[in-house]
Amino acid sequence: MNLILLGPPGAGKGTQAKRLTELYGIAQISTGDMLRAEVAAGSPIGREAKAVMESGALVSDDIIIRMLGARIDQPDCARGFILDGFPRTVPQAEALDGLLAAKRLRLDAVIELKVDDAALVERVAGRFTCATCGAGYHDRFQPTRVPGVCDKCGGREFTRRADDNRETVTARLDAYHRQTAPILPHYEAQGRFFSVDGMADIDEVTRQIGAVLGRLA
Ligand code: AP5
Ligand code: MG
Ligand code: ZN
Repeated sequence: MNLILLGPPGAGKGTQAKRLTELYGIAQISTGDMLRAEVAAGSPIGREAKAVMESGALVSDDIIIRMLGARIDQPDCARGFILDGFPRTVPQAEALDGLLAAKRLRLDAVIELKVDDAALVERVAGRFTCATCGAGYHDRFQPTRVPGVCDKCGGREFTRRADDNRETVTARLDAYHRQTAPILPHYEAQGRFFSVDGMADIDEVTRQIGAVLGRLA
């Protein structure tokens, strides 16, 4: 099964993608996570992307499309994948069409998480991640069961993203509306496009996505 999760910063793409990997045994491909790994490694891509990401703007289509093309060929994608944070521009959506056609793959569903802009700043500002296993949390909406201890691995170190501050979130949201929202009609026209209420709580959003996928079979 090959899916795209679309939605603005903080919509819940990463949260839901992680659950779908567990439910369906398919790979999560987060271009944001891949770029953060490049930044942490200090690679040439990371050095180019760092300032762009901290400003809230989008990294160049060239870099992203090359990165994505290589990622889809990895063995863990053989059973399918969930694209989280890609495509984000019309050229990226067109490049993906070409890539999938060349590999004789198709998209089973494109799922938009619809969320009010007003909710996003709080979601992003409260987010933190386990430094050991990558599990995602939120100060208010998804706290750890024991304060300061990861539910999944017992880790005690957590990180917050450099771009999760108020100003950068505003710039990221602006980039979403200007550069990413225009790809929605591209997928609406292809069919298999579904909108899910991303304002519902995390379990309910997972249930709604499951219902969409259940109807596809
Ligand atoms: P990226 O990492 O993709 O960030 P983003 O799109 O801004 O999205 P987020 O990861 O912030 O949000 P999310 O939807 O994953 O939400 P989450 O599940 O964590 O991109 C970062 C940067 O990299 C970009 O700005 C750009 O510079 C660059 N980049 C990446 N891909 C690119 C591309 N294709 N092209 C060009 N540049 C690219 O949830 C957020 C919080 O809310 C969590 O704490 C969670 O616990 C909580 N939460 C989730 N769901 C709910 C819910 N239903 N109710 C209450 N709380 C919830
Ligand atoms: Mg994310
Ligand atoms: Zn952990």
